[in-house]
Amino acid sequence: MKEELNNLKNNALAQIIEARDANSLEELRISYLGRNGSVNKFFKELGKLDPEERKDFGILLNDTKKTIEEALDSKTENLKKTKSKEWFDYTMPGTKYILGHIHLISKTIQEITDVFQKIGFNRVRYPEVEWDWHAFSALNFPENHPARDEWETFFVDEKPHPKYGSMLLTPHTSSGQIREMQRAQTPPIRMINIAKTYRRQIDVSHYPMFHQFEGLVVDRDINITHLKGTLDYFAKAVFGEGIKTRIRPYHFQFTEPSFEVDFSCTLCRGVGCKLCKAGWLEVGGAGMVHPNVLKACNIDHLKYSGFAFGWGVERILMMKPGLNIPDLRQLYSTDIRYLKQF
Ligand code: PHE
Repeated sequence: MKEELNNLKNNALAQIIEARDANSLEELRISYLGRNGSVNKFFKELGKLDPEERKDFGILLNDTKKTIEEALDSKTENLKKTKSKEWFDYTMPGTKYILGHIHLISKTIQEITDVFQKIGFNRVRYPEVEWDWHAFSALNFPENHPARDEWETFFVDEKPHPKYGSMLLTPHTSSGQIREMQRAQTPPIRMINIAKTYRRQIDVSHYPMFHQFEGLVVDRDINITHLKGTLDYFAKAVFGEGIKTRIRPYHFQFTEPSFEVDFSCTLCRGVGCKLCKAGWLEVGGAGMVHPNVLKACNIDHLKYSGFAFGWGVERILMMKPGLNIPDLRQLYSTDIRYLKQF
């Protein structure tokens, strides 16, 4: 009997240790200590023993009951304390953290880069904090030409460079044309320069900081048809086969002849809508590189010719059907709820 009781105690303690919640502890309490529980059955046997044995076994039985009670109580306490550390299923799938994504502008820059890289353009990046010479003088702007104001340039309060003049935040990526020609020296040059540009402006479609992309091709026998072909290729690659391009005479200091570039409206597909002018959207500037610009970069203007074009990355974005960005400024906000939708 003593051995039986000992087994019962060991089993009870093992089960109590294993128990994972209050319910199973309660079940154990009933099955061991309840009125019809296993411990009580031994008490009923007590009477059948002779007095000597009864005394010994009685002490043992009371001890066993007390041990089981204490084990149940301390486990109950333990469970309460470690509620959060309860049994854990290691095979459950983990917590999924929210992954961010690339900003819409960066995505568009990547897309523009890919489209031009496919036809052999080389992506470059040049300083945003520039000298007057790269942003204006070498681009054929005469000294003191009002263009420096017209372009709403931010000048940096720094000592002017003896050769390159004032320090400024470049108002257009055309300064990259100069940097690239100086670097490459011998054509062929096929560059796509995408960078931040800065102008003193702010409204729903303008921001003091924005992005431009600038294409420049310099080689022997480059003519307007090469420019037009490149624009056509770009328009179709980004907006689809049906998109047409046209160039209209315009004026830039650094190109001759100069053009404004239009795409047939990407939203109404050229039919005519609120956003376009009779089916056309103005996208940017272009032209044949002015001989004075080639000269400023020590490139033989009799041997080589080139074309250039440039316009805003944000402009491309706003022309994407379905995106509907009524206020450009929101793109530069830090409102994740807004940015998350793209
Ligand atoms: N830099 C001009 C602008 O910002 C665009 C342009 C680029 C025009 C290249 C002609 C050639 O408006």
